[in-house]
Amino acid sequence: MRAFVVTVPASESELAADVLWSLGAAAIEERDAPTDSTLVELVTVLGDDELALTASAESFPTRWRWHVAELDESVMDSWRAHAVPSWIASDLVVVPAWTSFDTETRPGLTVVRIDPGAAFGLGDHPTTIASLRAMRAVQWPGASILDVGCGSGVLGIVAALGGAPSVVAVDISQAAIEATADNAKRNHVDAVLDARRTPATELDGPFDIVVANILAPVLISLAPDLRRLTAPGGVLVVSGLLRRRDDHVLAALEPMHLVEQHDTQGWTALTLRH
Ligand SMILES: C[S@@+](CC[C@H](N)C(=O)[O-])C[C@H]1O[C@@H](n2cnc3c(N)ncnc32)[C@H](O)[C@@H]1O
Repeated sequence: MRAFVVTVPASESELAADVLWSLGAAAIEERDAPTDSTLVELVTVLGDDELALTASAESFPTRWRWHVAELDESVMDSWRAHAVPSWIASDLVVVPAWTSFDTETRPGLTVVRIDPGAAFGLGDHPTTIASLRAMRAVQWPGASILDVGCGSGVLGIVAALGGAPSVVAVDISQAAIEATADNAKRNHVDAVLDARRTPATELDGPFDIVVANILAPVLISLAPDLRRLTAPGGVLVVSGLLRRRDDHVLAALEPMHLVEQHDTQGWTALTLRH
């Protein structure tokens, strides 16, 4: 497996990590840069599409340097030993599939078991948490769902467990499609969840609820399709956005308008309607 390594000033490591998460990093390891103590290296795997990955890097500030390297897989998997359940609400928890979790004492609790594999999404990133809360706040019985940028599939799987009769989950990464299909089976919703690598431009809609947790520049380029794919009486939830840096995304999605906002740890999910 190949690693994507970004070298940044130590003071910007958090910002760079946020950008990498939003681009679809499944795990990030931070280490000192070998040559300069003021720099750190963020080592990550960003799906399996090196061209898409390096195209994303074009938007990095020029002071950030990046390169592709061979990966020590045992290092990248070390995060698995520390993974813990993420409580999204008092009735919803996302559990790392390889850990044990006792559900017997909690009737009414929805437990989602996720293994992200090489894709993004253990359910613990603030944008995922904000997206899940925003989506659940608007989901109604019978609503069809589209998850654009599905990563490990957690958003679509929660929607299906919440009663959605049909869920389409798409991503540009093959690793994400594989992880989503595996996780749908694991959570017994594979009969209603269809995971595919179809680009948003080629999807037929509309869907009652569209969710897209992707970095802002991607949301802006996808805006015409996100609008088209959201049914007239439907709802669009977008995340992957830092709070107070959402103006460009809102402008790109006009004339859809903001009806609700869910903030989590400096990140936000926006809920829009036509
Ligand atoms: C931040 S992750 C979100 C994963 C998951 N939906 C979640 O909320 O945890 C963003 C995902 O969007 C995918 N992605 C990036 N650009 C895309 C595009 N143009 N179309 C579809 N998916 C895209 C990435 O491969 C990545 O899996």
